[in-house]
Amino acid sequence: MLQPRERHRADLARTLRLAKAFRLERTRPEYFYELLARDTVAQLARYADLSGATALDVGAGPGFFTRELRRAGARCAGVDLDLAEITAHGPPPEGFVVGSALHLPFGTGVVDVCFSSNVLEHVPSPWRMAEEMVRVTRPGGLIYLAFTNWLSPWGGHETSPWHYLGGERAARRYERRHGRPPKNRYGRTLHKVSVADALAWARRNPKVRVLDALPRYAPSWAKGIVRIPAVREVLTWNLALVLRKTA
Ligand SMILES: C[S@@+](CC[C@H](N)C(=O)[O-])C[C@H]1O[C@@H](n2cnc3c(N)ncnc32)[C@H](O)[C@@H]1O
Repeated sequence: MLQPRERHRADLARTLRLAKAFRLERTRPEYFYELLARDTVAQLARYADLSGATALDVGAGPGFFTRELRRAGARCAGVDLDLAEITAHGPPPEGFVVGSALHLPFGTGVVDVCFSSNVLEHVPSPWRMAEEMVRVTRPGGLIYLAFTNWLSPWGGHETSPWHYLGGERAARRYERRHGRPPKNRYGRTLHKVSVADALAWARRNPKVRVLDALPRYAPSWAKGIVRIPAVREVLTWNLALVLRKTA
């Protein structure tokens, strides 16, 4: 079994490895997402013992992270709203649930670890989703919530970097060039979420304590970026919030 607790090294080589793999996201998605899931679960395992833990992967898509959480020893369920996403790479892992991150179909305090990768920016009410993740986590449990913030160089997803000129404009430009609208449509399936708002939500939430706020893919020495207003919105790229449920 993977023992990521000792293995995760957030050095520059790892950042370059992820960046190189990302170039294959379209042509070899399985390769990229399996690598990212391995890396992310190893990162998560620095904060929680996953062996035997009950986990939930919110907005799980085809389940790359669910599978990796299981490989790390967790009993993990996945939930996603969109059946097409769930089955995009073949049958989903067993125990998948179709449901909304905004109304998680799970009881209160039932999981040890509530996990989500790159979903928050796709829901119209991000803080409602975040509150739902807190709700289903048991007191003392861990919440790992990672997302691409809007002013990240990848904030507009496939319309990047033109989102810096406006989300609608970027979508129109994409459609002109590709003859079809982007999959991630600004204002419908892609929304503006900032690093500042995420930190403010977490810090003023009495039900959680912030254990860490990381530029997810960056080397550990670049962690201080998230403390610099404005600069953090561009350089963080993808924020990973690690929270402990207190009550
Ligand atoms: C960019 S994909 C990320 C999938 C997966 N977490 C990953 O990183 O590979 C965003 C996912 O969020 C899901 N999603 C969007 N809105 C949702 C909602 N309200 N409830 C549950 N899932 C949602 C989409 O169906 C999609 O699978």
